[in-house]
Amino acid sequence: MCPQFNNALFVGKVAIRLTKVDSTNVYAKQFISKMNPIEGTAIYADEQYAGRGQIGSKWDAEAKQNLTVSFIFNPTFLLAKEQFYLSQAVALSIYDLLISYGFSPKETKIKWPNDIYIKDKKIAGILIENILRGVHIQHSIVGIGININQYKFNSDLKNPTSFQIEQQKKFDLEQVFLQLCDALEKWYLVLRSRAFNIIEKTYLNRLYLYQKKHRFFDNERNDYVDGIIEGVTNSGWLLLRTSAGLEEIPLKRINF
Ligand code: BTN
Repeated sequence: MCPQFNNALFVGKVAIRLTKVDSTNVYAKQFISKMNPIEGTAIYADEQYAGRGQIGSKWDAEAKQNLTVSFIFNPTFLLAKEQFYLSQAVALSIYDLLISYGFSPKETKIKWPNDIYIKDKKIAGILIENILRGVHIQHSIVGIGININQYKFNSDLKNPTSFQIEQQKKFDLEQVFLQLCDALEKWYLVLRSRAFNIIEKTYLNRLYLYQKKHRFFDNERNDYVDGIIEGVTNSGWLLLRTSAGLEEIPLKRINF
């Protein structure tokens, strides 16, 4: 059972709700350049008409059926080269949110680097955009899209799922948002205490196909490669054990 109010002290305390916007991440970036928003400010939209996904992709979400929200953080305590810990902390927050909504820990996984999966289907995505100052992060825009009550998806999406598809009932978006704020605050505080070892250990524990043999497609070799995920580097590359040894794989080099 989920609480009716959130306990978060700063995440989502200021929440700006937009009926329609191109992208909450774009809005958040403009907002930061004009104002000095307090840490944890949330920008959420009933409808995004140009939602952005990772590496230049689009994020499609039916109006009023899903969570499309961007949070503004000021993790000035993080070096630019430590940004993958923020990414892991956000993924862990969404993981915890799903578990609090009754998803099974066995079936809920984080797919490297930060997609959230139920079995073999994607239920949530994260797009983090950092604004740097020297070697530190000054602002971080944490864009989160979670499929909640959408039942039908564009056929060009590979393998989407939603809360409703998985659990055959409708969910209260406001309540999911509040619960997400709680989860984010918890992991953000772990990040702020620089307990990176806890973040990485928990992330690996929840990682899709971790320590399992799997056939990947390697775009560099232009061929399939059998490998076992053994971890991630501090900068977020995947550590894959293949017949060639332990390889450090950058984003986009392999497909699952
Ligand atoms: C992905 O490709 O998996 C990342 C998807 C991130 C989507 C969210 S929805 C809210 C925020 N605004 C955007 O334009 N994108 C992110």
